[in-house]
Amino acid sequence: MSVTPTAAERIAQLRSELDAHNYRYYVLDEPSVPDVEYDRLFNELKALETEHPQLVTPESPTQRVGGSALSAFGEIRHEVPMLSLGNAFEEADLLDFDRRVREGLDLPSGDLFGGGAEVEYSCEPKLDGLAVSLLYRDGLLVRGATRGDGSTGEDISVNVRTIRNIPLKLQGSGWPRVLEVRGEVFISRAGFEALNARQLESGGKTFANPRNAAAGSLRQLDPKITASRPLQLCSYGIGQVQGELPDSHIGILQALKGWGLPISPELQLAKGVQECLAYYRAIGDKRDALPYEIDGVVFKVNNLAYQRELGFRAREPRWAIAHKFPALEELTELLDVEFQVGRTGAVTPVARLKPVKVAGVTVSNATLHNMDEVARLGLMIGDTVIIRRAGDVIPQVVQVVAERRPADARAVQIPESCPVCGSHVERTQLVKRSKGKESFSAGSIYRCVGRLACAAQLKQAIIHFVSRRAMDIEGLGEKSVEQLVDEGLVGSPADLYTLRFEQIVGLEGFAELSSNNLLAAIAASRKPSLARFIYALGIPDVGEETAKVLARALASLRRIEQALPEVLTYLPDVGLEVAYEIHSFFRDEHNRKVIAQLLERGIELQEEGEVHPEFAGCATLAGLLDKLNIAGIAVTGAKNLADKAGSLERVIELSQDWLELSVMKGLNEKGKQALREFFAEPANVEHARAIEAQLREFGMHWQSEKKAVEGLPLAGQTWVLTGSLEVMSRDIAKDKLESLGAKVAGSVSAKTSCVVAGPGAGSKLAKASELGVRVLDEAQFLAELERLG
Ligand code: IVH
Repeated sequence: MSVTPTAAERIAQLRSELDAHNYRYYVLDEPSVPDVEYDRLFNELKALETEHPQLVTPESPTQRVGGSALSAFGEIRHEVPMLSLGNAFEEADLLDFDRRVREGLDLPSGDLFGGGAEVEYSCEPKLDGLAVSLLYRDGLLVRGATRGDGSTGEDISVNVRTIRNIPLKLQGSGWPRVLEVRGEVFISRAGFEALNARQLESGGKTFANPRNAAAGSLRQLDPKITASRPLQLCSYGIGQVQGELPDSHIGILQALKGWGLPISPELQLAKGVQECLAYYRAIGDKRDALPYEIDGVVFKVNNLAYQRELGFRAREPRWAIAHKFPALEELTELLDVEFQVGRTGAVTPVARLKPVKVAGVTVSNATLHNMDEVARLGLMIGDTVIIRRAGDVIPQVVQVVAERRPADARAVQIPESCPVCGSHVERTQLVKRSKGKESFSAGSIYRCVGRLACAAQLKQAIIHFVSRRAMDIEGLGEKSVEQLVDEGLVGSPADLYTLRFEQIVGLEGFAELSSNNLLAAIAASRKPSLARFIYALGIPDVGEETAKVLARALASLRRIEQALPEVLTYLPDVGLEVAYEIHSFFRDEHNRKVIAQLLERGIELQEEGEVHPEFAGCATLAGLLDKLNIAGIAVTGAKNLADKAGSLERVIELSQDWLELSVMKGLNEKGKQALREFFAEPANVEHARAIEAQLREFGMHWQSEKKAVEGLPLAGQTWVLTGSLEVMSRDIAKDKLESLGAKVAGSVSAKTSCVVAGPGAGSKLAKASELGVRVLDEAQFLAELERLG
């Protein structure tokens, strides 16, 4: 095949455009085009290269993952050894370092009256990942290596090529003919969480911390695995060089940035050791808010001539030092495992630890989530464990130190009866409903079956019921609720509405005035919106969002109570599992009794009314057939069947008419067989009819097209609020967004339309920029609200 000049030109053009986008995205952190545009260019290049394989070059952006898995890594000798750093833990250690530097350079030292000569230092965060060396020859990446023992490392060339922010080809001009870049390969917090979630889902092993995740991902013999991991590079220095470079450390890093290599956005120059200390404190203050983990900061003498003069001692440079932060991980002993009972009765193991200071905070408890987690960790009482406290997250047990297990270590056992009320503890079942069949498997959660008869659950249920976003009863804190329950004054949320003054006054914290205030607050809560009331009930898996969706769509307690699971799944974001939770909550005798009492005792629900027209309009017959989950009938089959039959009764009829069904088009043999069998079962016919009848009762009529959401400017969008807002509270911001039609979610995903980030925003902001989601600060957000009216 002849190569048309235009193809070659277009390929060159596409490569340079893609490289430029990558640079803006990864190095400058200013994405220039949306992901879809990038993908379009990428796919065009890929197609052209497939058509003209002779034009493929190793530095093409399409060539990041190539070749098959290795059987072992080759060895690479470092021309210039990869050294390590001395550590400073205290301020005094850093002052000593600075003194040694100045003495080594013969600079005048300070006295009582002056600071003496000040040395300029570069300041960078010390990322917690894995050191790598990248060799560029004539601007092309030719080799990547791990640090190894400092003299010899492993050849990980194919793996480093998969890391998106490592350029395969340097940008611009003026780079040395041979340039060895050194830096840290790491995984962001958001990347770490996403990776572990994926690992859990696929049954793979999870990583204890981002550092291990980075190391485990980079040292993979199969580069395809490395390519699937969210690794990033941050360059912090150089190794061998043939050619010219600037004469200061910061100058070199800036040159690297110009050639397309990522450097730390926190890089700064400090004049003298006091500015270094200020930098250490400033970075320490924002440590938790950084999108990646750091274990300290690194100070380096900025002037390269000075660096040469100072030289090395053993395997450490005399011109650099790491000033460490308190460690995020510590060793301690697991003294015991206790079990806590939550609002929904979940009995969760909690680790009681020998108190240990982790990153400045004394930790004596850590969550263990559930018994599967205990099993995954292989945890026994008496074990020495690694505790990790990252950011504001609850401390976690990340690993058992198996070698230190004492001979008398005891297994962790789930109690057979509830530690609070003595009721039976049951293992939850996971019900999988698929294609008309239900299958059961053991869940990871254990539940106390005592419910409101269990003081722990009762207290939690009431604390939730009275909370601000629920019934909003002021003056009832956790302590007061505990007293009311312990004194036997309140046995269910409904009992709050029969409390009398004489019963409250005299309880701890309740004098005359506060008792009256409490009664007034209870009285004032009698007219909640339907959404608040549904949320306050504490139905498992029904948060504020789902409660609002239920209230808005069905607009009456009675309809919500009676809705069949399949009908509930017509609601946005309600899946079958949640639908079954809601349905079985309202089937439960005890819950029905409490709700009836609440209404008897004067709760008047507001905002009840007609079924929302949007909900009423969204039912299709095809949707119903799909929801029946008939084996072998997928979306297309359901649609064809609906188009042909036009009504449920016709579908039932058709399914039992051998001849008509066998000549029907648009459904395969397996589907026909399944349909016949499904409706041959009277219970299934009845069930399908019941769903249809309920849909009709709720005002639905079959429509083939789902109506577009009406009017609202942000309809269909999902927004996320993170960090603190200064002008407008988050609750108000949330209400505003919702009134404009947006959904407000708690976590960022590829589907997020926009993130509003205030000061202190952390991993959500990082995730947003990683995913290229639009981000607004508070001022921009307010402007946007104004614009939308
Ligand atoms: S400079 C001769 N700068 O820390 C200087 N190291 O304890 C060698 N590290 O192996 C390293 N961030 O993996 C330097 N900004 C930074 C760093 C950094 C992380 C790691 C690196 C190195 C270890 C030294």
